Amino acid sequence: MQDNEARQWARKIWNKIEVKISAECDRIGSKIPYIARNGKYEDVMAKDPYWWTNGFWAGILWLLYQDSKEEKYLTAARGVEDRLDECLAGFTGLHHDVGFMWLHTAVLDYRLTKQERSLERALHAATILAGRFNPGGQFIRAWNGDKTGWMIIDCMMNLALLYWASEQTGDPRFCRIAINHADTALKYLVRDDGSCNHIGVLDPDQPELLETPAGQGYASGSSWTRGQAWGLYGFAISAAHTKAVNPERSDSYLSASKRIAHYFIASVASYGFIPPIDFRGPREPETKDSSAGTIAASGLLQLADLVDASERQFYTDAALGILKAIDETCCDWDPARDSIVQEGSCAYHCKSEERHIPLIYGDYFFIEGAHRLLHPDFKVW
Ligand code: GLY
Repeated sequence: MQDNEARQWARKIWNKIEVKISAECDRIGSKIPYIARNGKYEDVMAKDPYWWTNGFWAGILWLLYQDSKEEKYLTAARGVEDRLDECLAGFTGLHHDVGFMWLHTAVLDYRLTKQERSLERALHAATILAGRFNPGGQFIRAWNGDKTGWMIIDCMMNLALLYWASEQTGDPRFCRIAINHADTALKYLVRDDGSCNHIGVLDPDQPELLETPAGQGYASGSSWTRGQAWGLYGFAISAAHTKAVNPERSDSYLSASKRIAHYFIASVASYGFIPPIDFRGPREPETKDSSAGTIAASGLLQLADLVDASERQFYTDAALGILKAIDETCCDWDPARDSIVQEGSCAYHCKSEERHIPLIYGDYFFIEGAHRLLHPDFKVW
């Protein structure tokens, strides 16, 4: 597919996204949605203010605002950002996913409006993430409680907040922590064939791998598709941000992202371009995770940005193939109902009500993928 053909597709889809999100914004405002049930989102803030997905609705709103400059998106997104102050103040419930929570709220706000309060919030969140770095083990620890040696592939996405903080302040500490974590993740979470472990349990006092539990995948050694997508996208983000400061590390992150991408593209082709929950789980009962597809598609577009013209088309075509398959088979475009992308799944061993559902991040990355094609110069990560 030629680039202009991809943009034409994105323009057509964006028109549908605008109708849908405009109606959702009128209904939802600054509430914080997660899973839509029967076409209706609930506000999850009272139930779990620290939940890792609590920034994605604001991320959607900022992308719509960037494109349209319609004030109602800014107002609703800023309302979400204000509400998350409770978590910055509370602190103890925070975790490795502060990147997801404040990149799509405060960083995007600051990028688009230069509001000073957003800069403070984003630097506060980056400092919390940096504080989770374990210098003995050389990784950013996942979750809380007794999981002192745990690192996860998902966290590659949160590194974007650290790169942003170094670029913003000129202080290399944040970037150095991100590089050290990425190096450990490359060593212990990315396998030779391009598939990834979800979790690596390390000795917390030294960078030594002890075990690789199944986590959200089917089993140890299997291939949780959303984790593959986080790895593909996360290493591309690290490649982009280290290009100027550390070209050698950047090249190795780019190779890792490509390796994961090639594995993902080859695997997803045998599922009609909509990922299952785990590429190495049982085929029956068939359970998709459309969110793994939307994340991978936007990650492939990030990767396409980093390679030369002779390779770019390959990654763009793969991204488009996934986004189109999701549009054709998984999307609900009725503006009266909340959520676009259906058929998400939280994890392989989750409750049945957490499968075959629309997830806010499935929508976020679908919209981000279309936005990337329309506004290639605007950076979220
Ligand atoms: N924590 C990120 C995920 O569940 O994919």
